[in-house]
Amino acid sequence: MKTAVYVCGACGSESPKWLGRCPACQEWNTLNEEPRRGLMTSSSRIAPPAELKRLAHWKTQGMARRISTGLAPLDRVLGGGVVPGMGVLIGGDPGIGKSTLLLQCAAGLARNVDRVLYVTGEESGSQIALRAQRLGIESDALWLLPETSLERILETAEQSSPGVLIVDSVQTVCSASLESASGSLGQVRECAARLLEFAKRSDTPLFLVGHVTKEGALAGPKTLEHLVDTVIYFEGDGAFATRLLRTVKNRFGPAGELAVFEMAEGGLKAVDNPSAVFLSQRRSDAPGSVVFCSLEGTLPFLVEIQALVTGGGPGSPRRATNGFDAARAAMLLAVLEKRAGIFLSSDDIFINAAGGVRLAEPAADLPVACAVASSALGRSARADTVVFGEVGLVGEVRAVSRTAERAREAVRLGFSRCVLPRANLQDFPRDIDLQPEGVATLSDAVESLL
Ligand code: TYD
Ligand code: MG
Repeated sequence: MKTAVYVCGACGSESPKWLGRCPACQEWNTLNEEPRRGLMTSSSRIAPPAELKRLAHWKTQGMARRISTGLAPLDRVLGGGVVPGMGVLIGGDPGIGKSTLLLQCAAGLARNVDRVLYVTGEESGSQIALRAQRLGIESDALWLLPETSLERILETAEQSSPGVLIVDSVQTVCSASLESASGSLGQVRECAARLLEFAKRSDTPLFLVGHVTKEGALAGPKTLEHLVDTVIYFEGDGAFATRLLRTVKNRFGPAGELAVFEMAEGGLKAVDNPSAVFLSQRRSDAPGSVVFCSLEGTLPFLVEIQALVTGGGPGSPRRATNGFDAARAAMLLAVLEKRAGIFLSSDDIFINAAGGVRLAEPAADLPVACAVASSALGRSARADTVVFGEVGLVGEVRAVSRTAERAREAVRLGFSRCVLPRANLQDFPRDIDLQPEGVATLSDAVESLL
C-alpha cells in the first residue's frame, strides 16, 4: 500500500497521485509528496501528551535561560542566544559559509551545554575535523555524527540527549517513510517537521541548515519557514569577504535584525564597525556615488550606493542592479523621468550597493534615485552628506523610521550633512553636529545633494 499523498504547496489540497498541475488551484509544480495522514510512519509521529498548565507555568517556561553561541552578533540576531526547543533555520547559498558559522557556533555552545551534536550529511567527519582545526576549535563537548538517515539521527539524538542539535543540511536528510529522493520537497518538509518535533518535545535547541535555490527560495520553500521559530539568511557576494546575517522571522526576538561578519582565514569574524568596511573604498568625488544610512534591525550602518548611467546602444537599454530590488529600481527610474525631468529611457543603467550588501529597506529609495541622477547629470554628490528616505510614485519623499539612530551613525563616521524626508525633521536630534536638509520631493533632494 502506498504510504504517501501529494499535497499542493500553494492551496493545500491533496491528490492521490503526482500531477504537474494542481487540479484545485491550477498552479504548476506545486504538488509535494507527504506521508498519508493518520498512518503511523514511525513511532515519533505519535503526538506528545497534551500539557494542560496555567499561564503562569508557561510564562516561566517562556523566560527560559538563553544560551550563548559565543558569537555576539549571532546571539543578537537570535534575540539574545538560543532558547530550549527553539528551531532555527539558517539559509544561504552553497559556499557562503553556513557550515563554518555553525561549527563556530557549535564550539561556542559547547562551552555552555554538556553536549552539542553536529550531524553532517554533506561532509565527512574528518572534513569537519579539518575545518575545526583550521578554526582552532577543540572541544570535548562537541560530537560529530556523519549521517543522512532521519531515523538514525533521531535515534542517536534520543539516546545521547544533546544540549543542542545541529543538522547540516536538512536537504541531505532522508526519511525511510517516503519514497522520494533526499532533497525533494516532501523529504525536506517531513525531515524538518520530525526534527522539530524532537526539538520541541525534548526542549533541545535545533539548528537546521538549508540551501537556497537559484531562485532565492529555501528548498521546500515557505513551508520550512512556517515550521521553524526563527529564520536566518546568511548572505553576501562570493567576491567579497563581507557576510550578512539577517533574521526574516523570529518568534523569540525581533525580526529584521542584521549582523555583519567577515570571512577570514581563521573563519568568520564579527565586524564591529560595518560602516567603515562599506565605505572603505569610496571615491567621493566621482558622480554616481551616494552614501546611504541604512537601519535594519538594531544596527545602523552607512553604505555607498553607486549608479552608472551610460548612453545605450540600439535596442532596448540594459538595466542591472546588485544588492537592490530590480523592480523597485525600475519604479525609481520611472519616477526620476516623470517627476524630476531626468530622461533615462534610452540609457543603460547599473546600480550597485558596494561591498556585496543587499538593501531591503524602502529608505534606500532616495539615495538610489540620487545616485542615478548624479551619474546621469555628471554631477557628483556632496561628499559630506548622507541620504535616506522613501520615494513615492508621485515623486514625494516619504518619512522613514528611526531618524535619530541613522543621524548619530552618520556623525560618528564624520559626515556633516544629511538629506532626509522633511516629515522626519521633527525626530531629528538637536544635540548633534549634523546639518539636516529636509526634502519633500525627489527634485528637492537632487537639488540639495548635487
Ligand atoms: P562553508 O562553511 O563550507 O560554506 P557552506 O556550508 O555555506 O557551503 O564555507 C565555504 C567557504 O568559506 C569556502 O570557500 C572557504 C571559506 N573559508 C574561509 O575563507 N575561511 C575559513 O576559515 C573557512 C573554514 C572557510
Ligand atoms: Mg556546508
